[in-house]
Amino acid sequence: MSALESSKATENNNNEPPLAKGLPIIGSAASLFNSPVEFLREQHKLHGPVFKFKAMHKTMTVLAGKEINRFMAGEGRDYFTSEVTWGRLRDGLKSPHLMIAVDGDAHAYQRKLLKGQFSKAAFKERLNLLVDPIESTLQSIEDGDEVHVGPFLRNIVCRQIGLAVQGVEVNTQQTEDFMTTQNTYLNVFMIGKWPKLTLLSPKFVFSALRTGKLLKKVREENTNRCPADKTSVTYMDKIEQGVQERPDLYTENDVRTISMLPFVGGVDPIGGTISFILYRLLQDDELRQRVVEEVDRVLLEAPLNFDSIDRLVDVRGLVMETMRVNPVAYAMARTATKEFDFGGYTIRKGDELMVFTVANHWEESFFPNPEKFDIERYREPRNEHKNGAIYAPFGRGPHTCIAAGLAEMHTVINVAMLLRYLDFEAAVPLEKVKIKYIPAPFMSENFKIRFTRRKI
Ligand code: HEM
Repeated sequence: MSALESSKATENNNNEPPLAKGLPIIGSAASLFNSPVEFLREQHKLHGPVFKFKAMHKTMTVLAGKEINRFMAGEGRDYFTSEVTWGRLRDGLKSPHLMIAVDGDAHAYQRKLLKGQFSKAAFKERLNLLVDPIESTLQSIEDGDEVHVGPFLRNIVCRQIGLAVQGVEVNTQQTEDFMTTQNTYLNVFMIGKWPKLTLLSPKFVFSALRTGKLLKKVREENTNRCPADKTSVTYMDKIEQGVQERPDLYTENDVRTISMLPFVGGVDPIGGTISFILYRLLQDDELRQRVVEEVDRVLLEAPLNFDSIDRLVDVRGLVMETMRVNPVAYAMARTATKEFDFGGYTIRKGDELMVFTVANHWEESFFPNPEKFDIERYREPRNEHKNGAIYAPFGRGPHTCIAAGLAEMHTVINVAMLLRYLDFEAAVPLEKVKIKYIPAPFMSENFKIRFTRRKI
């Protein structure tokens, strides 16, 4: 009997997981769309590691906890497919080999091809491509300037990913177009939160058109760059390599969507995480003073490089703790490919699943005093995140974030730069700022801060 099976399952294979209470017709849709993390946490506490919920016409089974996290990344890898849920996005985009929406050979080939481009090590010699865009933006800020946090962060991260991964300059308009396009596709096709009619709205249509042009330009500029610039291999070079080696995996639309992937994967998760960090620091002066002191101490000794980043232990703790309490990618949508038993229930082939990968982030037994925001959990001797498969801000299994190490470093860099150059205060009453799911969680668009330049 596997660790996933229990006596309850073998006694009665037909028992159904408990169903979350919901309203007639819509079921749990409102809670799920408005505050999914809170909804999943509450239901997990009530029902344990397996339960179901209904949202409109759909029923999903939630699997939660370290056992399922282990299973998904180990012997159970083949029991889950992304091809159905993410497949709705793939079909909507008419991109049959969209990496996140395919499994098996089509996924393994693309992952292997692109992995090196997303590794932290690949940035050792070109860290400046991440640092320069944020540094120049922050240096241009004047005392008293106010910004809306959402667009401000998305713009910076988009520019960084554009330059560091794609080798192109991305401006504010392109960032906005890009985010509108991406989030409309996700909300319409993948999540089903918005009606298909949204695809006819002028805002979406023009944003999608301009995004298409940008992606075309990315490809053309990469192909036409002068020989002197061709000394290092770019992300687009790898895609062109894929087109040559495996034309069966790269339609025109695939090339377009896969060239968009670093933006899709990175902008909202990193931007959202930093929006939570800024919100937290505005409420906790002691924490803020502590991290600012560390940043000043470390960056007075040396500029930002791989060594000094390693010495930013408090900033890294701040980032990791934020990813524990405000995980931006909190659940993985999958479909069962085979029958298996879990937590006393039988999961059947074809069941639509939501793997609540971060369920353990609030367990007292893994993270003592879990409601306390504590940046020291992730260092010797505590290393609370290393207790099995309990800490999972980057997902689990074959599709685990391909850029996890890079993303963590990227977030640390941005937080350190912000704290080094600028003081900031809330420019809107903080009680009016809420978490919004767009679909990834972000502090709401009314979150505004006012900057003062630091004398450094
Ligand atoms: C805080 C930052 C980030 C978080 C929390 C995050 C989280 C995740 C998670 C949970 C997945 C798995 C999705 C699934 O299994 O359904 C994923 C996949 C992915 N992420 Fe990230 N991510 C972050 C940043 C980035 C960045 C910066 C990039 C690229 C520049 C990136 C690129 C990708 C890609 C390409 C995939 C698909 C991998 C595959 O299908 O094999 N992510 N990410």
